[in-house]
Amino acid sequence: MSTPRIVVVGSINMDLTTSVSRFPAPGETLLGTAFATAAGGKGSNQAIAAAKAGGDVSFVGAVGDDDGFGTQLRETLQDAGVDTALLRSVDGPSGVAAITVSADAENNIIVVPGANSSVTSLSEVDLDAIAHADVLLCQLEIPLDTVTTAARHARANGTTVILNPSPVQDLPGALIESVDILIVNQTESEQLAAVTGRVRYLVTTLGAGGADLRSGEETIHADSPAVTPVDTTGAGDAFTGAFAVEWVQGQDRALQFAATAGSLATTVRGASVSSPTRAAIEKVLNRQLDSDTV
Ligand code: RIB
Repeated sequence: MSTPRIVVVGSINMDLTTSVSRFPAPGETLLGTAFATAAGGKGSNQAIAAAKAGGDVSFVGAVGDDDGFGTQLRETLQDAGVDTALLRSVDGPSGVAAITVSADAENNIIVVPGANSSVTSLSEVDLDAIAHADVLLCQLEIPLDTVTTAARHARANGTTVILNPSPVQDLPGALIESVDILIVNQTESEQLAAVTGRVRYLVTTLGAGGADLRSGEETIHADSPAVTPVDTTGAGDAFTGAFAVEWVQGQDRALQFAATAGSLATTVRGASVSSPTRAAIEKVLNRQLDSDTV
């Protein structure tokens, strides 16, 4: 079977992550326990997750020409095997995300889009890459019109469109009509309840509870392997990137494969580095976990 070709049109951020024992109350000053700087952004995280899961991945997006961040973000994608030929470098700062992770592995995230806001159009080369891919993978951290253009072009050329509508916002009809697979968490599912019935496949991630895949009248469920989480940041991205690759390989196992990837990602700190390799996912799947802890 040929390697799945995935094009991600999305965001890339520098994640500035502070670990705390608990989240501070409004107006409260709290001492943190650790600080880390690492590549993130839902688009970049999903691209890296897809590459580690065995995809041939190209990333369309933008970094800033700020000292350090833009170069580091590009190199992180390249180190993971993601093609960055379509990653632009623009005037101004890269996107950043201020993230707080609590001792029980939950997170709060504030994204300042920076260069991601400049992705307002797609070049002929970008469109050509989308047309020749198996899957177009998008999120909502770049301008909505660009996501819509990418999705419509993919649909017109027979490329499967997977949308992870995060951060959640109202979806224009032209976008939802072009989506084949919508991947949402429970909050997003509730907020988008008016349109989730319009996509062919709806995947709902349930955190430690696994994930559901609804197609027509049928819903299948996959459990997540039990793990001891340290950081849930990027777990949904690990799920989505892995799902995209495995869906092309053969739809049967994609939900279980992705649920395993998402679960494993919570056992490692950081958003992009935490996504597991195909070998790591396969190892857990082959162990036929039931209630064992990884
Ligand atoms: O999904 C996690 C990601 O959300 C982080 O990497 C952060 O950059 C934000 O985009």
